[in-house]
Amino acid sequence: MSESITFDPKQLSLRQLHGYLLGSVAPRPIALASTISRQGQVNLSPFSYFNVFSTNPPIMIFSPARRGTDNTFKHTFENVAEVPEVVINMVTYSMVEQVSLASSDYPRNINEFEKAGLNQVKSEKITPPRVAESPVAFECRVNQVIPLGQEWGAGNLIIAEVLLMHIHVKFLDDDQVLRTEKLDLAGRMGGAWYVRASGDALFQVSKPGKNLGMGIDQLPESVRQSGVLTGNSLAKLAGIGSLPSSKSVDLWEKEPEINKILERPDAFNKLHILAQEMILNHRLEPAFKTLMVADRISAPKP
Ligand SMILES: Cc1cc2nc3c(=O)[nH]c(=O)nc-3n(C[C@H](O)[C@H](O)[C@H](O)COP(=O)(O)O)c2cc1C
Repeated sequence: MSESITFDPKQLSLRQLHGYLLGSVAPRPIALASTISRQGQVNLSPFSYFNVFSTNPPIMIFSPARRGTDNTFKHTFENVAEVPEVVINMVTYSMVEQVSLASSDYPRNINEFEKAGLNQVKSEKITPPRVAESPVAFECRVNQVIPLGQEWGAGNLIIAEVLLMHIHVKFLDDDQVLRTEKLDLAGRMGGAWYVRASGDALFQVSKPGKNLGMGIDQLPESVRQSGVLTGNSLAKLAGIGSLPSSKSVDLWEKEPEINKILERPDAFNKLHILAQEMILNHRLEPAFKTLMVADRISAPKP
């Protein structure tokens, strides 16, 4: 990106800063946190300052900030200070409006399960109930609360350890592996924008193998400087361990499809377009050989 505007957080209003931070650190998962006061009043509120931070021990973190209106603490924060327990319920697209309703600033004695029309299920290890509609719910003990500041909008990190997990059976396969792609989770962006993790929004990226890829820096100059190949395509090629052998490129050059392109004056560009299509169709090896054929003829002058 050639042009950008630089902002100093200290020069911005709270509203502007909030907009830039939350609009760009996105999408964020949503924790629908169920807590309880010492008097036994149940509270349910969503938090998108949230993630999992450790597998062993299993640790999740979320952050109820000081209210931007009067700098007071949110009920969730007050509850965990009194009873250090929370159920973190995951949020699906089908419940996102109810979750938004649960974020309303109801008085402390109001149970947002009732306001949002969500059903309570008794927890097994802790006191706050979990949300029946959530596909996955984590019963957690709060290990630590870390205030991040005293001013309006300052977060309070709640570090919670997972004691029990409840996963709806329809999201587990026969080997009890979680089918994440089936959850239809909702996430939070900036402003009123949300994201739905399903359909075209889902895609897979294969993990780098044990054999190290050569890296983009080792690709031939003509490939690295291609005006056609995308950064993603370069990275896929660079995940391969070595360049195609010159013998395999000799043979590939003689393929009718390639040979025909080589007769054209714009052969270099056409070969790159063909290679890009092949990469998109997961045909990495022929794509690489096509690019090596192009490498043998000179690239057009810009
Ligand atoms: C999807 C969503 C995510 C939210 N994330 C946060 C958050 O991470 N931190 C926060 O302080 N408030 C967040 N809010 C606002 C709180 O849910 C809201 O202030 C709520 O009233 C707090 O409830 P409580 O006072 O009962 O704890 C979020 C609201 C929505 C709808």
